[in-house]
Amino acid sequence: MIDLRSDTVTRPSPEMFAAMAAAEVGDEQYLEDPTVNELQRRMAELLGHEAALFLPTATMANQAALRTHSKPGSIMLAEEHTHMLIYEWGGPAIHSGLVMTGVRSEAGRVTPQHIAAVEELGPGSVVVLENTHRSSGGRIWPLDEFRASVDAAHERGAALHLDGARLFNASVGAGLPPSAWSQHADSVTICFSKGLGCPFGAVLAGPAAFIERAWESKYLFGGALRQAGVAAAAAIYALDHNVERLADDHARARRLAEGIGLDASVVDSNFVAFPDPGDGEARIAERGVLVSNLRPGMLRAITHLDISDDDIDQAIEAVSEVVGATRTAAPRAR
Ligand SMILES: Cc1ncc(COP(=O)(O)O)c(C=O)c1O
Repeated sequence: MIDLRSDTVTRPSPEMFAAMAAAEVGDEQYLEDPTVNELQRRMAELLGHEAALFLPTATMANQAALRTHSKPGSIMLAEEHTHMLIYEWGGPAIHSGLVMTGVRSEAGRVTPQHIAAVEELGPGSVVVLENTHRSSGGRIWPLDEFRASVDAAHERGAALHLDGARLFNASVGAGLPPSAWSQHADSVTICFSKGLGCPFGAVLAGPAAFIERAWESKYLFGGALRQAGVAAAAAIYALDHNVERLADDHARARRLAEGIGLDASVVDSNFVAFPDPGDGEARIAERGVLVSNLRPGMLRAITHLDISDDDIDQAIEAVSEVVGATRTAAPRAR
C-alpha cells in the first residue's frame, strides 16, 4: 500500500533510531535531561523566542499555550477548520474555558477584518493562526498578511498563538526561516512527528516568563516527562537531516497534482487536495493507494519521507482513475 493519508505515518529511519539509542538522558522534570535542554535551546533560537518547552504532542503544546495565555470565558478565534478548533476534542473549552469561534476564510487565513468583527475579543482572548494551514490543503501564509493579522489581534489586546505544527514546511516552501512568522506570534507550536519523521514530540516556544508558566499545563496535562532525551534526540536528528528535504515532498506533491489534472499553483507544500466523488477513499484504496479526508467533500494525499517518485506515479494512476471517472459521470457533484 502507498500511504498518502498523512505525513504522520512515517517510521523512524535506522539513523534516527541510532541517534535515539545514543542520546544522553536525565530527568526532564528536574531540568536534567541534556538532550531535551539542547533541543529547547535550539528551537527557541530557530523560532525567534526566548525559551521553548518540549511536549509529547502538538495538541498538548497548543492546549498549554491557550491555557497560559487566556482567561476563562474569553474568545478563541480561528479559521473554522483550524486543527485547534475542530480536532482537539473541544480542548480550548474544556481546559481553558474558552468560547470557540470559527470564521470562514480563504486559504485558512483569518484577516484583520475578521478580527475587527468579533466584538468580544480582548485581553484574555487568543487568536489562533495555522501555518501551513492543514484544511485548506497545506497553504502557506504570505508574511505580510500574517503580520497584518497579528497586529490586528494585538490591537484588540488578544494574544496570538501560531499553530506551526508544519511551520518547517512553510519555511522550506517559502524560502524563509521559520522565525519569519513565529517571531511575531506570542507563542508557537512545532510538531516533530509530521514531515520531520519523528515518532512523537513537539515544542512550544515563547517569552521566558510565558514558558515558565506553561510548565504548569505541562504537569497538569500529564506531559512532564523523565528521560525524554530519547525523543528529543530524534527531533535533533530531524532538525539536522530532515528539514531541507521537505522540498522533495513539496515537489512530489506538485507532480501528483499536475498528474491528476489539478492546478499545481495552489500546492504550496506537501498536501494535494482534490474533490471526493463520494466513495473516493475506498475506491482509491482498492487501487493500492491510501488517501484521507481533508474537509467535507475534499480528500487529501500527503507526501512524506517514505514516499518515492515511483509511488507518485502509481498514485497518479489510482487517483486519476477514480477522480477522472467522476468528472465524466457526475460533474455537478464536484
Ligand atoms: C495543524 C495541526 N496542528 C496540530 C496537530 C496535532 O498534532 P499531534 O498529533 O502531535 O497532537 C496536527 C495533527 O495532525 C495538525 O495537523
